[in-house]
Amino acid sequence: MSALTFTSTTTTRRVGDDERARILAAPGFGRHFTDFMARARWTAEGSWGEAEILPYGPFEISPASAVLHYGQEIFEGLKAFRHADGSIWTFRPERNAERFQHSADRLALPHLPVEDFVASLRALVAADEPWVPQPEGETSLYLRPFMFANEEFLGVNSSAIADYYLIASPAGAYFPRGVQPLVVWVTDEYARAGAGGTGDAKCGGNYASSLLAKKQAAAQGADEVMFLDSESHTFVDELSGMNVFAITKDGRILTPSLTGSILEGVTRNSILRLAEDRGLEPVEQRLDFAELTSQIAAGEITEMFAAGTAAVITPIGELRAHGGSWTVADGGSGETTLSLREELTGIQYGRVPDRHGWLTRLV
Ligand code: COI
Repeated sequence: MSALTFTSTTTTRRVGDDERARILAAPGFGRHFTDFMARARWTAEGSWGEAEILPYGPFEISPASAVLHYGQEIFEGLKAFRHADGSIWTFRPERNAERFQHSADRLALPHLPVEDFVASLRALVAADEPWVPQPEGETSLYLRPFMFANEEFLGVNSSAIADYYLIASPAGAYFPRGVQPLVVWVTDEYARAGAGGTGDAKCGGNYASSLLAKKQAAAQGADEVMFLDSESHTFVDELSGMNVFAITKDGRILTPSLTGSILEGVTRNSILRLAEDRGLEPVEQRLDFAELTSQIAAGEITEMFAAGTAAVITPIGELRAHGGSWTVADGGSGETTLSLREELTGIQYGRVPDRHGWLTRLV
């Protein structure tokens, strides 16, 4: 039962039909925003109240707002997909809602009930329905729920006011080069998260701390950065915003186990399931980077890829580090990688039967 009702204050659109059509023809990632957004406020005295759909746009925030000083913020990412019959669906939203609660616990923010999280998706996507692209070309509407501490107070304390927002952005491929094999720089200098830290929470701070290493990756000609564990710099953690997978010649699919410093990706979990369905053996274990590279060099690892909501499944063609570089097989897009991608997106766009019951209809 949803307690919150996200009521619309206006139906006036911000962007005209022609401009929206132009944007939807080549949306890129994260650059364009829809007509509306959802908002709800939590206070320590009154819990959740004041839920609404309002025009997308800037809002006022006090210079003393807690989030601007101590980074008490969490977010999520999921997508709305239009099917061939015009209906609009999303993928495993309750998992994102539960992860949002997990992140909220870690950042001392309040729980948004799962039903209210899903209610906000339904209300915003209904209001922004023309922004959900047609299914051709694999574009979707990326949904970005987020919550932040908004108490005007400079003491280091969990905030007595939290604001929840949901914004939406039409999305094509996450990487500017599209679904092309990535070059990944492996940093030996920085870690993304440490034991007892916030690595398994989806909070802005994790991403902020990845940016310098990402800049260094770009200086090395790489598309992404890979982090190793903070204690020993031995085991693969994840990329700046994606989980990592490797496929072996003998039919195993490997991904780092959830040690607490890794985000439990919804795409990660779905891939493990789809891979198992097709006879691959899913292996969640600590992935020793030195072993990984020697297995790549020996041809035992035949494919690697990055996985996340935004990136879906994007092949990894090469790893680069101070100690050398390793091309995965021929450096191209692996066959199983592309086929898993095809199956996952097939389910999301309604082209492939949803045998696990992963889709939720929004509109
Ligand atoms: C996602 O895949 O949805 C993410 O949150 C990763 C990135 C865009 C931050």
